[in-house]
Formats: sequence, C-alpha cells, structure tokens
Amino acid sequence: MTVSPASDPHGKAVAGRASYLVLHNTSEVVTPDLDGRRIVRYPRGAVVFREGRVLEVGPGADLLRRHAEARPINANGRLVTPGFVDCHTHMIFAGHRAAEFQRRLAGESYAAIAASGGGIRSTVSATDAERSDVLEKNLAARLERWRANGCTTVEVKSGYGLTPGAEIRLLELIRAAVARVPVRVVRTALLLHALPDAYRGRREAYLTELREHTLPEILRRDFAATLDVFCDPVAFSVDECRPLLAAAKALGMAIRLHAEQTKRSGGALLAAELGAASADHLECATEDDWRALAGAGTVGVLLPAAALTLGQKLPKAKMLRETGARVALATDFNPGTAPAQSLLECAAIATRLCGFTADEMLLAVTWNAARALGLESQVGHLQPGAWGDAVAWECEALEELPYWMPAVRPDCVLIRGADLALPALERRVWP
Ligand code: NIG
Ligand code: FE
Repeated sequence: MTVSPASDPHGKAVAGRASYLVLHNTSEVVTPDLDGRRIVRYPRGAVVFREGRVLEVGPGADLLRRHAEARPINANGRLVTPGFVDCHTHMIFAGHRAAEFQRRLAGESYAAIAASGGGIRSTVSATDAERSDVLEKNLAARLERWRANGCTTVEVKSGYGLTPGAEIRLLELIRAAVARVPVRVVRTALLLHALPDAYRGRREAYLTELREHTLPEILRRDFAATLDVFCDPVAFSVDECRPLLAAAKALGMAIRLHAEQTKRSGGALLAAELGAASADHLECATEDDWRALAGAGTVGVLLPAAALTLGQKLPKAKMLRETGARVALATDFNPGTAPAQSLLECAAIATRLCGFTADEMLLAVTWNAARALGLESQVGHLQPGAWGDAVAWECEALEELPYWMPAVRPDCVLIRGADLALPALERRVWP
C-alpha cells in the first residue's frame, strides 16, 4: 500500500527543488534495520537526504566528506530517529467526554456508561452537530500537534459517524484536512464501531448495507484503503465482523481489528485467520492469541492510554518477546478511552508498565507501527530509499526517550528531508 497522493500534497514541490541535505553533528542516529528486527546505532552519525528520500545513513565524518555539496543541517549534538508513526487514532470528532471520565473514576463501567446514552454515541451526536469546516480545521490542527510531537505519519480513522452517510462525510473531511498539512496520513474507514440508532433492531440490515454499498463506495471514491472494525461484546461479534472483513479483503483493502479490548472474544484469532494488518488493544488477549498473531505476521498494537484510562493491564514485554510477535504502540487518540496527545508519552508509560527496552520501544513507534499501516518499506526507518522523515530530539541518548516525563520534545521535524517548522536548528529549508 502507498500513502494516498492526497496525503502528500507537497511531494511535487520538494522533488522539484534542489533538495540535497546532510543532517550532521548528532549525538547518535538510531534506526530500525530493514527487517524491523533490531535497532542500528550510528554514534555521531549523519543522514543524507536527496529529493525527499534517505540517500545514506552512517558515520558523520565520512558522510560529510563524501557529500560536500549537500546543504549541512547541524543537529547540535542531538539524538536523531526516524519520524514516529502513530498507527491508530480516532482524530476526527467534536467535543470531549471529561464528565464521563469522572463517572468512570467514581466506579461506573465503560459498558454501563455506553448503555446509558454516553460513550461512543454521545461523541457521534456531538460530531453530527458540528459544522464540517470546524471538524476539518480541528483535524488539521490536531495533525499539526502530532507533527510537532515527532509523528510524521499518522493514521486517522472515521468511526464517529456510524450511519453510512455520516461515515462518508467524515472520510471526506479527513481527506480535505489532510490536504492542509504536510504530515503523511493514512485514512481508515472504521465501519463497525457501534450500531447507529437509525438501525436499532436491524443489525442485519446495517451489516448488509455496509458490505454491499458502503464499502464499494468508499473504494470507488478512494476515501480509504483500509477497513477497521470494533470486534467486542460491547460492539460487534466475530460472526458479525467476519463477512465485512472478508468482503473488504476481497475488494483488495487492508483490514484491521479492535480486538480483545473489554473481554476476550476471538477477535485476535480472527485477525490472524484473515491475515489482518493488525489487531489493536489486546488488553484481554492470551499468550496463544499473541502466538497466532506472530504466526500470521499480524502486528499487535498496544494502546496504553486506553488501558490506563479504563484501568486495564498491559501485557509483559517478556511474554511478548517469547511469542516473537511484532508489537506497535499507538495513542488511540479519542475522546472516550484515550485523550492522549503524545505518542512518546504513551510509549514512555508502556515502557514502564510492560518492561520494554528502549530499542523495543523505538521499534514499536517506528517500523512495527509502519508495518501495521503497510508502509514499512517507506517509513519508520532511515534506511536508504525511505522517505526522509526524521526527528532531532531535545536529548542525546536513545534511552532518554522513554525516560523523561513529560516526554522530551522534538527540536526539529523533517518530512521528506525538509524542516517544516520547528526553528531550533540553524536553518529552515521549507519555503
Ligand atoms: O479504540 N474501542 C473502540 N473505540 C475507541 C473508543 C471509542 C470511544 O469510547 O469513543 C477505542 O478505545
Ligand atoms: Fe481505537
């Protein structure tokens, strides 16, 4: 899969300019290897970018000497990593659910609040009532915040529309917002999130409508190339999710599942069975589920903010390691379970709760997250040929990334080898 052209509005502009840069004077450059199995470190390393892509990564002195014509960008002794990839967000919504958060802290369950008219449906009403231009502008502003926090690739799901028409509206707005920002965006249609009121008592009709009309329309109008579903006792069962996922697969879409969140119900095994790109949440998944995901090459995406907010446990890194599964970390940014606006902050928390090494944490927010989006050949690492998306952080050692709280900030964020905004480095190269 490629990032859709609409999400790369500045591509032509950069490719047409003489863009030949060397990011040097780093404390170290750290990047996943091509297979995403380990982190490679280049102490005092450098990265050479040409025409928006990584040309070379390696020892700084050597690269500076061999690329004397490249425009030097001084990293001022900072740590350089690939741009982070937030592979799971629900960024398009209106309002917030802070009062609901208080109810949960007082002991009410997520399911009970949802059943009493709160939960997903309350955000659906707020989103429905919001003006389209406001939703679009707010989404663009959120994407800017993610970029400023070091995420150069972000997945955005629909899902707070529910009816076919309202989901299409959100997908249209996502596409429009993406054209305003330089961040790479992967658009996902989250179609089975909750049963809309208009279909109460008509679940079968809803599933059929989505399968027979909505999915083909989404593909025909190029709104999304990935389908996500919420496979959970509080949402849709394995038997309800399977036909829609299979239909999406038959149409050539990538598929992903919210699985094993509130209760173990077979979503992870379904993800493995269908060869899904990822299974996300997995708070209630067993070791066997993780083994099945590993066997299928399906990425397991942990969402620490949702687990913390709902008072759930995260799996231990030792168990995950033993299964050989690929693990990604994401914000799950949404107003209900994860009002989390920094991927690194989420990763720093997960590192503590799960016991990840710094290398594992970096893999989880770069290569593995890119793989959940089908983009691992292009983003999530700084190997030659990758898109030139990199971050110089306000720290020197990789181990500082999960260490500081609040998380360290980017000093400079490069997308396609160009510094778009943060002014700390010696030269801004974006027009
Ligand atoms: O990923 N689990 C389903 N969807 C969201 C939460 C949605 C909501 O509560 O608004 C999640 O946690
Ligand atoms: Fe989610």
